[in-house]
Order: sequence, then structure tokens, then C-alpha cells
Amino acid sequence: MSEVLVIKAHPKTADVANSIEIGDRFLKAYQAIHPNDTILVHDLYAEGVPEINSTNLDSWKKLTNGVTYNELSENEQILLSRQQKLQDQFIAADKYVFISPMYNLFLPNRLKMYLDLVVVSTKTWVEGEHGPEGTLKNKKAIHIQSSGGTYHHTDNAFMATLDMGDAYLKALLGQVGVKDYQGIYCEGNSHRDPEDMAKNREIIAQEAEKVAKSF
Ligand SMILES: Cc1cc2nc3c(=O)[nH]c(=O)nc-3n(C[C@H](O)[C@H](O)[C@H](O)COP(=O)(O)O)c2cc1C
Repeated sequence: MSEVLVIKAHPKTADVANSIEIGDRFLKAYQAIHPNDTILVHDLYAEGVPEINSTNLDSWKKLTNGVTYNELSENEQILLSRQQKLQDQFIAADKYVFISPMYNLFLPNRLKMYLDLVVVSTKTWVEGEHGPEGTLKNKKAIHIQSSGGTYHHTDNAFMATLDMGDAYLKALLGQVGVKDYQGIYCEGNSHRDPEDMAKNREIIAQEAEKVAKSF
């Protein structure tokens, strides 16, 4: 039995967002094959993500300097316990499903905010002899991304280099030990009429359902 953590990072819902609809199809297919797995969904736009601000930074410093959790202010405790919970869930997961649109060649900011909270020194990576060493082993990740342009389904290799959000997510997860990573890309949406977009979405959703069976 595996724990699957789904990170939805789209301000919209499935009825209007290609990536969310494909993500839902992926999860449905996954569940059908793995009915006993636990699936935890974080909808970052519906739930919000605590930002790293001076309160967080101060409270982390206090804890490092020997102040106990109970000695922190109520505000600091609330922020820390939310962060702790997100970190614990991230570390406990066996599989990650990231669902997001591309924004300015990168990830939506709430996804970056989430990653800043859960990827932390001493927990998800440690300083090794030859640099950072990931502590998360035998886990896998998939990134379902939708974009206006076409970066992966093209012979133009330069386009793939522009998809810095996907490359960053792969690199960051690799640094914490999650080396098994794949992307599913629903692309070219800016140039498609509604009929063509629906057709392409269906092709990518079927690809996602296929991948779900071996994920
Ligand atoms: C703020 C913003 C920035 C965007 N930046 C890019 C971009 O850099 N490259 C791109 O191909 N599409 C970009 N898009 C388009 C979206 O990625 C595209 O509409 C995508 O299909 C949205 O995801 P969805 O289909 O799941 O709703 C941007 C859209 C918004 C709202």
C-alpha cells in the first residue's frame, strides 16, 4: 500500500482547466488499479500556503537557539504547526502527483511557496561529503502540466529548455532523493480552438491514464 500526495496548483477547477481534468483522469485510473492506496490531495489555491515571512524566519531561528515550541508566540506556533504538518505529509508520501499550469515559463507561485516549506535542510536533504544528499528514497513523482505554447511535443529542442518550471521541479525532487520523475504535458493551448483543445486534452488524458497504471 502506498501513500500518494497530490499537489494541485491551479487557481481554476476541472471544468475549465486542462491540467486539473487530466490530473483527475490520472487519479481515477490510478485508484482503479490501486484501490487500497491512500490519496491525500492538497489544493494549494483553495487551501492557501503559508508564506515564508519574518515571523517564520524568526521562529526557526529561536528554535535553533534553544527556545522551546511552547515558548513561541501563538502566531509563531500556528505557522510552525501548519508547516510541520505539510512537511510530515510530504516526507511520508511514497508517490507525488503535481498538477499545474505553466506561468511565465515556470511554476505557479503557490507551488514554489509550498516547495519552500516542505523541502528543508536536515529533513529532506543533508549536507553530504560531496554536496546535498536526498533523504527521500524509493519514491516517484509525476508532473502534469498545461501550457499555452509547445515545449515538449516538438522537434525543436530549444523549446524544452524554456520549460524551467518542470526542469526545476525535477531537479529539486532529484536533490531530495526522488529520482523517478516524469512529465505529462498538455500543450499548445493558446493556438487551439475549443474543439482542437478538447481533442488534444483527450489524447493527453488517455496518455495519463496509461501512465497511471504503472505509476
Ligand atoms: C499569468 C500567466 C502566465 C502564463 N505564462 C505562460 C508561459 O510562459 N508559457 C506558456 O506556454 N503559457 C503560459 N500561460 C498560459 C497557460 O499556461 C495556459 O493557458 C494553460 O493551458 C493553463 O492551464 P490549464 O489549461 O490547465 O488551465 C500563462 C498563463 C497565465 C495566466
